[in-house]
Amino acid sequence: MGCFRCTGKSSKKSENGNDKYSSKKNKPDDRTASDALKVSPNENVKETDVKKEVVCKDDQLALDVKGLNLIDEVTKDGKTDGKRAQSLTFDELAEATDNFRSDCFLGEGGFGKVYKGHLAKLNQDVAIKQLDRNGSQGIREFVVEVLTLGLADHPNLVKLIGFCAEGDQRLLVYEYMPLGSLENHLHELPPDRQVLDWNTRMKIAAGAAQGLEYLHDEMKPPVIYRDLKCSNILLGEGYHPKLSDFGLAKVGPIGDKTHVSTRVMGTYGYCAPDYAMTGQLTFKSDIYSFGVVLLEIITGRKAIDHTKTAREQNLVAWARPLFKDRKKFPQMVDPLLQGQYPVRGLYQALAIAAMCVQEQPNMRPVIADVVTALNYLASQKYDPQIHPIQNPRRSPSSPNVKRDDDRRQIAGNEGQRESGWKD
Ligand SMILES: Nc1ncnc2c1ncn2[C@@H]1O[C@H](COP(=O)(O)OP(=O)(O)OP(=O)(O)O)[C@@H](O)[C@H]1O
Ligand SMILES: [Mg+2]
Repeated sequence: MGCFRCTGKSSKKSENGNDKYSSKKNKPDDRTASDALKVSPNENVKETDVKKEVVCKDDQLALDVKGLNLIDEVTKDGKTDGKRAQSLTFDELAEATDNFRSDCFLGEGGFGKVYKGHLAKLNQDVAIKQLDRNGSQGIREFVVEVLTLGLADHPNLVKLIGFCAEGDQRLLVYEYMPLGSLENHLHELPPDRQVLDWNTRMKIAAGAAQGLEYLHDEMKPPVIYRDLKCSNILLGEGYHPKLSDFGLAKVGPIGDKTHVSTRVMGTYGYCAPDYAMTGQLTFKSDIYSFGVVLLEIITGRKAIDHTKTAREQNLVAWARPLFKDRKKFPQMVDPLLQGQYPVRGLYQALAIAAMCVQEQPNMRPVIADVVTALNYLASQKYDPQIHPIQNPRRSPSSPNVKRDDDRRQIAGNEGQRESGWKD
């Protein structure tokens, strides 16, 4: 996924190959108390505090955390209640990955390389992200990730098991998600990968919405995620979805404030236009990104696809005129579903997506309402053996859609007999 500065033209990827962007690199971005609490740790560290921190003086994380007055919560971590992220040594992580062997390599994002490993101490498979010091992210994202995810606990958030901050090494250790990211299951599928069926898609959408609801409505203080996209939705056994990557997360507005002012960061195609233009981040910015993800889930299209014609490159811009005419809804559905979807379910899912990507942030729904609607949709099981298969059609405006694999197996359709749809 290519990324951009939300204000416009230049693509960071084209400059340095990195996914994330920022509009004011190297400038302090934090303008409110709540913001400073999350990402500007060193500004709060008094000289006297730093001097007292002799034992940890080589440990940048400890200094960062000290500045946030959260050191107790982070360092007591796993040793106290088993829920919080624990500090791990570099040796433990090197052992877990056989010295970061190339066949343990899972992929690479803006933070750095990701390896699969087995943590002997916990007898658990893990994914280990190693900060690339030349990459687009850094200590700040590392600290925010540890503080946000280390304190979060929800079945739809990837569990941060631990972290390592030794010398200038920064590593994050997560539970291993065996099915990889949602992006890998929607776009450019390898020939041996099954197409996600309608029910699985709705289950993933509902689970991702529940993860976001936890961040917005249950965490104290509430958190704006800021980086919701298909590559950050990871899948466990049974396609159970979990949100990952909290390096851009922000504490939401406090009191009667409606927004947090920040430099604009995120991923091209997912960033709400209001946030891109004003730098004013709200919970509704996440709702917009969620709407883009839901559209990708329904249509199988990418948020931004440079291989398509200009009119179709931006998913939301392509979808908006189609939202106005119900008769066009079947044109929007992923052709790889081969017509195996419920008509009413499609209308409802598209209606939710359309509300989420509205230009005006106050017109977008709150996450609790999105969760209610998607839970209902996910509960209505579609069975192609009982319900009619729609006429699978190639969108006339989508010559690039690959149809060679139209006859491939659709995951999960076997054995579904529960009836819920009446179309
Ligand atoms: N906990 C995990 N379990 C299994 N695979 C993971 C895990 N975390 C990341 N990965 C895989 O590692 C790869 C890189 O992930 P990473 O989050 O670093 O990059 P990204 O999401 O593609 O981009 P970004 O930096 O914008 O988040 C992806 O292919 C992802 O599927
Ligand atoms: Mg990611």
